[in-house]
Formats: sequence, structure tokens, C-alpha cells
Amino acid sequence: VPQRLLAPSILSADFGRLAEEVRAVEEAGADWIHVDVMDGHFVPNITIGPDVVKAVRRATTLPVDVHLMITDPDRYLEAFVTAGADWLGVHVEACVHLHRTVQRIRELGAKASVAVNPATPLCLVEPILEHVDMVLLMTVNPGFGGQKFIGSAVSKIRQLRRWIDDRSLDVLIQVDGGVCVDTVDVLVESGVDVFVAGSAVFQGSDYHRTVRALKDRFNP
Ligand code: DX5
Ligand code: ZN
Repeated sequence: VPQRLLAPSILSADFGRLAEEVRAVEEAGADWIHVDVMDGHFVPNITIGPDVVKAVRRATTLPVDVHLMITDPDRYLEAFVTAGADWLGVHVEACVHLHRTVQRIRELGAKASVAVNPATPLCLVEPILEHVDMVLLMTVNPGFGGQKFIGSAVSKIRQLRRWIDDRSLDVLIQVDGGVCVDTVDVLVESGVDVFVAGSAVFQGSDYHRTVRALKDRFNP
């Protein structure tokens, strides 16, 4: 049985107490910390930059997973790895030379992830699978926490699972958007390895309980 991981997204945390929030979800049993970087161009929202990633890095010993929702990510890869990103993800829609970009991420010493929007066909990442550590399938249109899960992503997850298994690749499948106790079962069943959850984790006050409720469903 594969070990499935929970990566709370700090997008829904209280930014005024960010270090405390990161420590609280670590304590509650989170496996990674997911950090959403938005530039107001690639997505219609603006969040944080490398300095906040540095603060997250200092607050936790968990792997820090940085999801770049930015145009021209090549300009900032080094800054985010230097800031402490263990995993660095770029959007396939934002990369003209995707192979070069993921190679650069690995050269810098981070694990390379490629993210795919709900309306983007999966075949765009098929040629790069041998060169990445993770594929992030978006289950909402990126930009905001608390949106509704887009179910049509499930067939993409199944297809990706088949490609990875058929070629015996060491590539994780991550989903991001609308992950909660109501949507997690179909994701587990279709072969997801890493679950990002923002509002589902941070909305209540008892992080132990919500983390436990999600992780209990990972290994039914
Ligand atoms: C969406 C971000 C997500 C977001 C998910 O643009 O990439 O990581 O925080 O939030 P929920 O889990 O609330 O859908
Ligand atoms: Zn994200």
C-alpha cells in the first residue's frame, strides 16, 4: 500500500500568525507544507514571494512544496530554492521550454513538479514524465482557496496513473483544489499520492481532527 501524503496549503492560514499556523499543522500530522505563489498575471490574485517561503522554512522541518502560479517562472526558480523550497512546481501553461525549466529546478537541488490546469490536456505533460518528480493536477482553476472541486479532473488522474505505472516511473501524482472529506475517496481510488488541502484543513479550529479525518481516508 503506497503511503499517501497530506500537504496543507497555507493560503487559507492566518497570515498574521503564519509561523504558528505552520507549526500547528505540522503538530497535527501534516506531511508537507504547500505554499501558493501567485503573481496577479498568471492567476487573478497576488500572494507571497521568496521571503515568506524563507519564514515558512524556518518554522518547520517538513518538506516545503512551493506551487508557482506565475508567468515566466524561470526568473524566480533560484530565489525560491534558495528560500527553502524542497519541491518547486511550475505550470505547464506558463513554460515555453518546459524541459529546460524542470532541468534547472533539479540542477538547483529541488524536486521538480509540473502543474496542469483543469482545462489543459494531460498530453502536454506526457513527454516530460521521465524528467519530473511530481505532476500536480489542478482540481480547481488556480487563484483562490475554497473553490468547488472540478470532477472532470478524475479521468486525467486515472490516465496519468496508467502512464506512470506502465513505464514504472518514480513520479508522484498531486491534486490541489477542493480536496475535503467529501472528495477525497474518489481521488484515493484513482491513484493520487499527495493531497493539497487549504480550506478543509484551516477552516476549523481543531487541526488534529481535520488532518486525522482526511488521513484516515487515505488508507481505507
Ligand atoms: C489554488 C491553490 C490551492 C488552494 C487550495 O489556487 O493552488 O493550493 O490553496 O485551496 P482549497 O483546498 O481550499 O481548494
Ligand atoms: Zn496550490
